[in-house]
Amino acid sequence: MTRDFLSGPIPTDVISEMLELARRAPSAGNSQGTEFVVLEGERVAELWDLTLPAEKRDVFAWPGLLRAPVVVVPVANTERYLARYSESDKAQTDLGKDLNNWAVPYWYVDCAFATQNLLLLATNRGLGALFFGFFERTQAVSEFLGLPEGVYPLGGVALGWQGSGDRPSQSAKLPRRHQVVHWNRWGKYLQS
Ligand SMILES: Cc1cc2nc3c(=O)[nH]c(=O)nc-3n(C[C@H](O)[C@H](O)[C@H](O)COP(=O)(O)O)c2cc1C
Repeated sequence: MTRDFLSGPIPTDVISEMLELARRAPSAGNSQGTEFVVLEGERVAELWDLTLPAEKRDVFAWPGLLRAPVVVVPVANTERYLARYSESDKAQTDLGKDLNNWAVPYWYVDCAFATQNLLLLATNRGLGALFFGFFERTQAVSEFLGLPEGVYPLGGVALGWQGSGDRPSQSAKLPRRHQVVHWNRWGKYLQS
């Protein structure tokens, strides 16, 4: 993740191409419910005004994050899942009737797959990227973006050319865990 950007723009065709590739992630029943809202210029500034107000900004540890020329907001369109799972080959699942019937919220899973694609594509292009959460501002951001009912933002992906002032977050300094693979049942780690 990159948290210090140069203000130089990203060509529009580069953004469009990355999003065209990012969307080719797998999706439940091929529902293709992931969509993107691309913010640039004044709209990026307005997003930061909403999510990082002046009193917090004065002590914000990564002022260079706010120079990112583009923020992409991947959103999950749950209507696509209800419609797809109401079709004849899926109707018997009852998943098209109510989002509460889903054991796993695949609209967020699919949205995260596509978002990871975007992060990888950005890295491959030599761009920096940061996925960040909206936390308690999620509803306010939804209104800011004009999202209709049933469409939910995953978070933001700041994109731009990396500046020279970047440094890892506290989280990135944590050591990588080794024992995360369980063989045959929980608790049986492969010896490392
Ligand atoms: C779901 C998710 C939410 C995250 N939210 C934030 C965030 O709100 N702010 C931030 O600075 N970094 C955020 N990160 C970035 C993580 O802190 C970062 O990926 C982790 O520390 C590892 O660092 P690296 O990706 O640079 O290797 C988030 C990452 C993920 C996957």
